[in-house]
Amino acid sequence: MSPALFRTKNDKSKMSRKFYITTPIYYVNAHPHIGHAYTTIACDTIARRQRLLGAETFFLTGTDEHGQKIERAAQAAGKTPQEYADEISAEFRQLWKRMGISNDDFIRTTEDRHKKRVQELFRHIRDNGYIYKGTYTGQYCVSDELYVDGAQPGDPCPTCGRITETVHEENYFFKLTAFQQKLLELYANPDFIRPETRRNEVISFVRSGLRDLSISRSTFTWGIPVPDDPGHVIYVWLDALANYITAIGYGSSHAAAQETFRKFWPADVQMIGKEIVRFHCVYWPAFLMAAGLAVPKAIVAHGWLLFEESKMSKSRGNIVRTETILDVLGADALRYFLLREVVFGQDGSFSFDALVQRHNADLANGLGNLASRTLTMINRYFKGEVPYPSHAASRTAADDAIAHTARKAIREFTALFDQFQFSRALETAWALVAAVDKYIVENEPWALGEKQDEESRSRLATVLYTAAEALRVVTALAHPVIPDATAKIWAQMGLGDIKKLALNDLTWGQLPLSTKLGDVQPVFPRADKSAIERMQKMEDERRSAPMTEATAAGADTTMPTPASSLPASTRPAPEQKISIDDFAKVELRVGVVKVAERVPKSDKLLRLEVDIGVEVRQVVAGIAEAYAPETLVGRKVVIVANLAPRKLRGLESNGMIVAASLEDGKPVLAGFLEDVPVGARLK
Ligand code: ME8
Ligand code: MG
Repeated sequence: MSPALFRTKNDKSKMSRKFYITTPIYYVNAHPHIGHAYTTIACDTIARRQRLLGAETFFLTGTDEHGQKIERAAQAAGKTPQEYADEISAEFRQLWKRMGISNDDFIRTTEDRHKKRVQELFRHIRDNGYIYKGTYTGQYCVSDELYVDGAQPGDPCPTCGRITETVHEENYFFKLTAFQQKLLELYANPDFIRPETRRNEVISFVRSGLRDLSISRSTFTWGIPVPDDPGHVIYVWLDALANYITAIGYGSSHAAAQETFRKFWPADVQMIGKEIVRFHCVYWPAFLMAAGLAVPKAIVAHGWLLFEESKMSKSRGNIVRTETILDVLGADALRYFLLREVVFGQDGSFSFDALVQRHNADLANGLGNLASRTLTMINRYFKGEVPYPSHAASRTAADDAIAHTARKAIREFTALFDQFQFSRALETAWALVAAVDKYIVENEPWALGEKQDEESRSRLATVLYTAAEALRVVTALAHPVIPDATAKIWAQMGLGDIKKLALNDLTWGQLPLSTKLGDVQPVFPRADKSAIERMQKMEDERRSAPMTEATAAGADTTMPTPASSLPASTRPAPEQKISIDDFAKVELRVGVVKVAERVPKSDKLLRLEVDIGVEVRQVVAGIAEAYAPETLVGRKVVIVANLAPRKLRGLESNGMIVAASLEDGKPVLAGFLEDVPVGARLK
């Protein structure tokens, strides 16, 4: 284990210590989902912990709004890029607000402050001699906004598999090759790229040789103009990466902004998902070096959240919305689940079952139950005042064992958390919850409470004090992870505002005696099976709804997903074209409905069995409001036959029925005027 990244204990200079943490800025071509929430929650947790440790903390997030990908998505939605970006950026901001995310700023790349400062950065790099003009001919992946070196026309993007587009234009180039050696020296610091696996990948990528990077585009306009050459817009990744410095005042002429930049840069932690490691670990430090600026202290890459076995993403159509979970279980449940269940750095699966199981086991029955039983007994037996523990003979080894476990939890939680091992950190804290539960059962405070003799009273005082003190320790440690519930427990314990907690000083035995408890109430209501069903239903119905403008607009327009190749009322602008090869990837076939029935407990879904000539497919379709099942049997339909199967309400859906989707009406199935044979392909 490498040394802790930031000092947490005995930090004498804590008053002057600063801490700057960032999330990626999210593209506005897709609605927020729990993949975005995952990074944001992890950063929020770290930021909250740093504040409690006394660091002057700046936590930044925002949205990435320029570039061809966004321009095309806006076109497909029939909106101007700015209107489109305004809407989706607002969704992110509102969601973070609703979740209580504690970001100090939210940057949008279409803001004036950002645009001016990016131009400053461009000038700065150019003045230092690292930018030249040339001609780029090569392949480009619009979905990743990535130049694909060495690819031929028609080749797929090595990252996402979409077919690359050929770009031939005059560009400005960045002398990335000048930084190969300096980058390798930077990676010698094992803390710069975490975890180790990602660091090794980056090192071998850079060792294998770099090429200069095109950093402008001249064939579209949705971006920041190159200073003194407005026929070019700055490459969207240079624009986007710069947010981490523009937001805190780089390139500003205001003294206060300059001061903020001096104070907070370089960033302490820049957290990202593993798919954007190259941009952050190669291009970003090279841009900074070229501008003569410091590089961040650490780039921390986490794995992917998977749903139904593949990466949750808009283009796969397998996202889970955060709102659904907030509606049913609340933000703390999601925060705890993501940090406890996913081993940070590795991919982790999301499921509603696992979410509810964790919520019930660790929060409702674990911490919640410990709080309510302990505080209820203090109310009952000591009139709501924390009792004095006995120092006398009635003290047992069991009491000391709890103190020992608590001290260990504080020590290990701190070390693990600061190494980004959230899951293991929470495990040690919850080991204390389990130990205290056992301690309570074994010491039977309820039996002691029935007796009036002095020895029993004194023993009862020790047991309840010990339980309450352990509860205080777990609550303090868990606060950055589950802020709402822990703030409530803290107040119920009579400890006041948890924001005033000084985590540096957390040790066993500080619970003030005679503290008067507040109102005791359950903090985590148990969720039953219907919670899973409710969340599943909310998501299934959204996903199976026929493509509407919102869903079509969010989809990647570079690949003919059904959403974008079968647009309804709003049409892709004529300039948005795909090749015949792209179209050929979609297998559309004539099928005949053999069986149609309602999906139980769903208003929108029908389960169909469709014969497509070679086989009979089960398809789950969101058309129940438009068609009675019995009217469909025998009807010929068009199905997208090569869609990856997915599960809706527990049923596998193997294909998609093609329908016209009307803005405010019901879907209308595609059909034929002439008779067509089953299995015929549409092309
Ligand atoms: O890449 N699992 O934006 P983006 C885990 N604009 N994390 C996920 C995730 C998943 N399934 N899906 C998304 C961009 N994320 C650029 C970044 S930064 C200068 C520019 C999270 O909207 C994760 O943090 O595609 C990932 O890196 C990020 O969202 C990508 O968001
Ligand atoms: Mg992405």
